[in-house]
Amino acid sequence: MQPKPACKTCFLTIIVWWWGFQERVSAADGDLNLLNSGCSQYNVTNFRDFGRNLNSTFVELREQLNGNRYFATAEEASGVYAMVQCRNYLSPADCLACFDAAVARIRNCSAANGARVIYDGCFLRYESNNFYDQNTQEGHTMICGNTSASEPSAFAATVQELLADLLVATPKINGYFAATKKEVVGDGNAGNATVYGVAQCIETITERGCRDCMQVVNTDIQRCPPNTDGRAMDVGCFLRYSDSPFFSDNQTIDITPFLRTPSSSSRRNGIIGGVVGGVALLLLIIALLVWFKRSATSKDSPIRAGDILGATELRGPINYKYKDLSSATKKFSPQNKLGEGGFGEVYKGVLKNQKIVAIKKLTITQSQRAKLDYESEVKLISNVHHRNLIRLLGCCNKGPELLLVYEYMKNSSLDKFLFGERRGSLNWKQRCDIILGTARGLSYLHEEFHVCIIHRDIKSSNILLDDDFQPKIADFGLARLLPQDKSHLSTKFAGTLGYTSPEYAIHGQLSEKTDVYSYGIVVLEIVSGQRSHDTTPDPDAFLLKRAWTLYQSNMHNQLVEESLDPNEYEVEEVKRMVEIGLMCTQSAAALRPSMSQVVVLLKSKGSMESRAITRPTIVDSAVEASTSTASSASLATLSITQISSR
Ligand SMILES: *[C@@H]1O[C@H](CO)[C@@H](O)[C@H](O)[C@H]1NC(C)=O
Ligand SMILES: *[C@@H]1O[C@H](CO)[C@@H](O)[C@H](O)[C@H]1NC(C)=O
Ligand SMILES: *[C@@H]1O[C@H](CO)[C@@H](O)[C@H](O)[C@H]1NC(C)=O
Ligand SMILES: *[C@@H]1O[C@H](CO)[C@@H](O)[C@H](O)[C@H]1NC(C)=O
Ligand SMILES: *[C@@H]1O[C@H](CO)[C@@H](O)[C@H](O)[C@H]1NC(C)=O
Ligand SMILES: *[C@@H]1O[C@H](CO)[C@@H](O)[C@H](O)[C@H]1NC(C)=O
Repeated sequence: MQPKPACKTCFLTIIVWWWGFQERVSAADGDLNLLNSGCSQYNVTNFRDFGRNLNSTFVELREQLNGNRYFATAEEASGVYAMVQCRNYLSPADCLACFDAAVARIRNCSAANGARVIYDGCFLRYESNNFYDQNTQEGHTMICGNTSASEPSAFAATVQELLADLLVATPKINGYFAATKKEVVGDGNAGNATVYGVAQCIETITERGCRDCMQVVNTDIQRCPPNTDGRAMDVGCFLRYSDSPFFSDNQTIDITPFLRTPSSSSRRNGIIGGVVGGVALLLLIIALLVWFKRSATSKDSPIRAGDILGATELRGPINYKYKDLSSATKKFSPQNKLGEGGFGEVYKGVLKNQKIVAIKKLTITQSQRAKLDYESEVKLISNVHHRNLIRLLGCCNKGPELLLVYEYMKNSSLDKFLFGERRGSLNWKQRCDIILGTARGLSYLHEEFHVCIIHRDIKSSNILLDDDFQPKIADFGLARLLPQDKSHLSTKFAGTLGYTSPEYAIHGQLSEKTDVYSYGIVVLEIVSGQRSHDTTPDPDAFLLKRAWTLYQSNMHNQLVEESLDPNEYEVEEVKRMVEIGLMCTQSAAALRPSMSQVVVLLKSKGSMESRAITRPTIVDSAVEASTSTASSASLATLSITQISSR
C-alpha cells in the first residue's frame, strides 16, 4: 500500500496528460458531444511508419464496425494498438459516423504515441503498447450537467437506484452493455420525470475488471445528482444518466434477470421457497464474502499501482497469470515451440483476447532467481520502445519458471533468410534496410534510452523480421536478468562465439563496442549470405578473414552473395557495407565506431576513403596482428579451433 516514490511522478504525468491537453464541450447534445480528448505527451521517434501503421489499424477498426459490431480492436506488430467502442444504442450508421469523427479528431495528436477521444456516442483510443486489459487508472473523470432537477431529492433517489442496478447488472451481461430507465416517484405536481441510464465496459476486460471499473465511475458520478445529467468515464468503462431520453425506448434492456434480488415467485410454495431462499441467501453471503476478499486484495496489486493514463513510457509491464500463459501455449506443448534461444525456450501463445504472443521460458535456477531484482529489470526492459526492438509486453514470476511475454513476429529470424529454409530470398534493398534498422535499434539501446543497455548477444538469429522485413532486435536486456556468471564462457558463450568480440570473449571486458563488433559480423553475414562460424576446413574461407582479404585487394564485391542480381546493387554500396562491417570488427574496441556513428555512415552517401580500417583480430592466428596483444591473439586461435572442431 505504501506508494513507491516513482508514483509521484506518475501521478503528475497523469494530470499533465489528462488535464493539460483536453478539450471539453458538455453543453451540446447528441452522439458527437465531445466529453474528453487528449494526446500523450510522448512522440514516436518515426512518425511516418507509426502513422502508416496507425492508418491501417483505423481501416481494420472501421471494417469491423461496418460488420455491425460495436466494439473492435486492431493492432500492428510494430507497436500500434487501437480500440473503438460505440454505445450499443446507436444505429450502425451513427456508430460509423462517430468513429469517423473520432479518427479525424485523434489525428490532431499527430506524432503522439497515444491518444484518446471520448464522445457521448463512442470512444477511440490508440497507444504504442497494449492497453486492452486496463480497466481503471488514475485520471478517471466525470462531467455533471449544470441544471438541477425540479424535485431534487426524489430525482437523486431514483438516480441512486438506477445506478445501483446498472452496477450489478452490467458486468454480468454478455457484451457489458446495459441501458435502462426508471420513473421518478415524486410528491409534487412538477410532472413525471424519468431517469435514463447507460453503462458499458470494454469487452477485453474480465467481468471482475468491469465491476471494479463500474465502482470507480459510480463513485465519480455520485457528485452529479440532483443535477439532471451526469457522465463518468475511465479507461475501461462508461456510465451516464440523464432525465432526457438519449436512447430510444426500444433500446432498453431488461436487466432484472441480472439483479441480485431473490425471485418473489418462490413465495408461492412455502417449502420450495424456503429452500430456494435459504440457498440464495447462502449464495449471497458467499458472494459477499468473496467480493469483500477480492476488493480487499485488489487494492494492493503492486505492478498496476504505478499505471498512468496514456503516458505509456512509464507504464509497468503486465503481470500475467501462469495458468493463462500455460493455456495460451497448450501447456507449453512442443507444437507451440518456436525455438530455443540462449536464454531459454520460446513458445507461441494465443491469449484469451486472441492476441498472438511469443512466450519465453527463462532458464534460471531458483537460487539465482531469489537474488534478482527481477521486477525492476523487467519493468525497465518493458519500457524500451523502438520500432527496431521487440516489445516486452509483460511477465509472469509466479509459476515454476520465469516467463516473459513478447510481441510475436510472423516472419521469424534473419538467419532463416540468410542460411536457412528461405535462403537467398532477401533482395539488396531489403538487406540494406535490415542493416540500417538494426543499427538504429542498437543505437537506441546504447545511447538514447535513459539507461545504456548492452545487448551482448547480437547475432542473426536474434534479429527478427516483421511483415515488411524491417528488423526487430530480440532478447535485449536479458543478460541483465542473469547474475554475473563467470562460467558462461564455457557454455552459453560457445553458441555465439563467431559473433563475440575478442576483448569480451577473452577478458570479459564488456562495453557498447562489444555489440558494435557483433553487429559488424552480422553486416558481413547479410552481405555475403555466409555464416560467421561456418564449419569449413579451409581457414581462408572464414567469413571475417575472407572479407578482410578481399577488402585489402579492393575486391569487396566478390563478397556479395552470388544469388543476388548484380543489377540490384552498386559496387560502391557493397564496398561501403563491407567497410562498415570491417570497421565495426576492428580488434581495438576504441577504434570501432559507436552505433550512432554507424547510422550516420550508413545514411551518408559519401566515400569513406578517409577512414583507415585496421585489421580484425580473429582473422589471423599469427602474433603479427599489430593492434592486439599476444595473449589475445593466441586465445583467438583457440576460439577458431573450437569453432572448426564443432
Ligand atoms: C449550462 O451550461 C451551458 C453551456 O455551458 C450554458 O449555455 C447554460 O447557460 C448553463 N445553464 C446554467 C443554468 O448555468
Ligand atoms: C510532439 O510533436 C508535436 C508536433 O509534431 C510537437 O508540437 C510537440 O512539441 C512534440 N512533443 C514533444 C514532447 O516532443
Ligand atoms: C493516414 O491517413 C490520412 C488520412 O487518410 C492521411 O492524410 C495521412 O497522410 C496518412 N498517413 C500516413 C503516414 O500514411
Ligand atoms: C482538431 O480536430 C478538429 C476536428 O477535426 C478540428 O476542428 C480542430 O480544429 C482540430 N484542433 C487542432 C488543435 O488542430
Ligand atoms: C405523466 O405523463 C403523461 C404522459 O406524458 C401525462 O399525460 C400525465 O399528465 C403526466 N402526469 C403528471 C402527474 O404530470
Ligand atoms: C426503435 O425506435 C426508433 C425510434 O424511436 C426507430 O427509428 C427504430 O426503427 C426502432 N428500432 C427497432 C428495431 O424497432
